[in-house]
Amino acid sequence: MPATKAQPKEMLPIVDKPAIQYIVEEAVKSGIESILIVTGRNKKTIEDHFDKSVELEQILKKKGKTDLLLEAQNITDMAKIHYIRQKEPLGLGHAILCAEQFIGDEPFAVLLGDDIMVSDPPALKQLMDVFDQTGSTVIGVQPVQHSEVNKYGIISAVAQTNQILHVKDLVEKPSPAKAPSNIAIMGRYVLKPSVFSILKTQKPGAGDEYQLTDALQQICHQENLLALELNGERFDIGDKLGYMKAIIEMGLEREELHPELFNYLQEVVKKEIRKVRKKAAV
Ligand code: G1P
Repeated sequence: MPATKAQPKEMLPIVDKPAIQYIVEEAVKSGIESILIVTGRNKKTIEDHFDKSVELEQILKKKGKTDLLLEAQNITDMAKIHYIRQKEPLGLGHAILCAEQFIGDEPFAVLLGDDIMVSDPPALKQLMDVFDQTGSTVIGVQPVQHSEVNKYGIISAVAQTNQILHVKDLVEKPSPAKAPSNIAIMGRYVLKPSVFSILKTQKPGAGDEYQLTDALQQICHQENLLALELNGERFDIGDKLGYMKAIIEMGLEREELHPELFNYLQEVVKKEIRKVRKKAAV
């Protein structure tokens, strides 16, 4: 706030792309061809972004701006994107339930719109590989600071092999005193369609919302639930500092921006050190 007063946070630009485009690109790079974006009130600009912009394409063609034209076309063509509206903000579990008809009877992936992951291979691909090898529901996790556990779904687990953990229990947003560990769910999941029947009978949980974590807790008591410690860096763009870090890191990833941005950051650090020293000398 206030940047997200009249626009969805998923449309906040990170360098030159809205956050949601990074998420869609991660899914596409992982091999996903069909995407359903669960939107809500105030999120129409997401649909406009992935829609074909005939006027813009004509202007770019006329001006001979081929690079930009290809980029605009690529946004529209990279995947089959569908939309469904979650009519009330009743929680992540409820949002996923909105996708039941679209999914049908196949395993599917969930990527949360405010968690940007920078990794190679993409975070989702890492999870899909584990699913292909094991056939088990698998969630992406990373350790977080103990003081921050109340922002996440937290797992209790035992190590299996190669960064794979066997989940024993999960709790959504526990207080640091009650958290079973500091291993947090990172907004990437590969789920089986059986999760829908659990979500349908579930009661609201933390924050009075229907929580996916609560459905996963039932799954882990009924069958094998795995967690994979994801390689890569995660940015929470729903958090002011996380958003600023994402812009800097994504800028540094761009070859054309790296040299000047790197120099600029060095200058900023030097300037700040000078300020601190001056203050200390007073
Ligand atoms: C959601 C999930 C939580 C997960 C988090 C990751 O929470 O409910 O389990 O750890 O995303 O970002 P939210 O951030 O939507 O409150």
